[in-house]
Amino acid sequence: MNSVTVHQGTQHALLAPTLAESAQPMRLFEPANPSLQAQPVSQGGRNAAWFVHLPNGQEGVLRRYRRGGAMAKLVRQRYLWLGAEATRSWAEYRIMLQLSNKLNVVPAPLGALYQRHGLSYEAALIVQRIPQAVPLANRLDQADPNVVAAAVLKIHEAGVWHADLNAYNVLLDAAQHVWIIDFDRAKRCSMHAKHRQQNLLRLRRSLVKVQGEEGLGWWEVFNQAYLQQWGEILPHRA
Ligand SMILES: Nc1ncnc2c1ncn2[C@@H]1O[C@H](COP(=O)(O)OP(=O)(O)O)[C@@H](O)[C@H]1O
Ligand SMILES: [Mg+2]
Repeated sequence: MNSVTVHQGTQHALLAPTLAESAQPMRLFEPANPSLQAQPVSQGGRNAAWFVHLPNGQEGVLRRYRRGGAMAKLVRQRYLWLGAEATRSWAEYRIMLQLSNKLNVVPAPLGALYQRHGLSYEAALIVQRIPQAVPLANRLDQADPNVVAAAVLKIHEAGVWHADLNAYNVLLDAAQHVWIIDFDRAKRCSMHAKHRQQNLLRLRRSLVKVQGEEGLGWWEVFNQAYLQQWGEILPHRA
């Protein structure tokens, strides 16, 4: 279904149709809004994410965009304005919508907000919550590298480069189904081997950091599985 655009003063939102009907749609992006019953997400991420109850009955994850690293102290959550579609939130929403519509490994985006402050803006995103999801970082013993490889390959075949494919941005649900999240700064591009490898190596670095030798061993099987699955689909596209 088509997303709805809502404008209110300096705030501009893209919303899933069921949320556009809410009484105060911009307040869906405020963790302090009591009707959301926001609970901070404790695992992974930059401590600016909350599990929320949405007025349409859905469970969501609300995230406000924050900078990491040294820049964070100076300009904590402001970004340079370069047009609506270039905002972090709207761009991430568009990519997640495209992927979630055709793949079963990406949660659906439900809302994207930006608020202009002259030359800068701040932003927030709401996505469908995956129930009982656990990051790959904490589930290595149970995660099937073949299944994770298939999920990453699907994203790549859809023409999307993930900007931060770490072990907290791959989730497993209770049925061991794999979900890829956090498409902040992701790009649509023709996915040459170099782009794919960048994503795979990012995951390697992350797994080694959180799980050491075990992480490396798991990644090596994962990497082989990815290359094999990719090789299997290549001839069909010639
Ligand atoms: N759709 C989702 N379902 C369940 N948990 C999620 C979902 N999206 C994010 N999370 C949880 O929130 C954390 C932070 O979200 P993420 O999108 O990775 O933002 P960031 O890493 O920029 O803080 C994730 O590591 C994960 O634990
Ligand atoms: Mg993340």
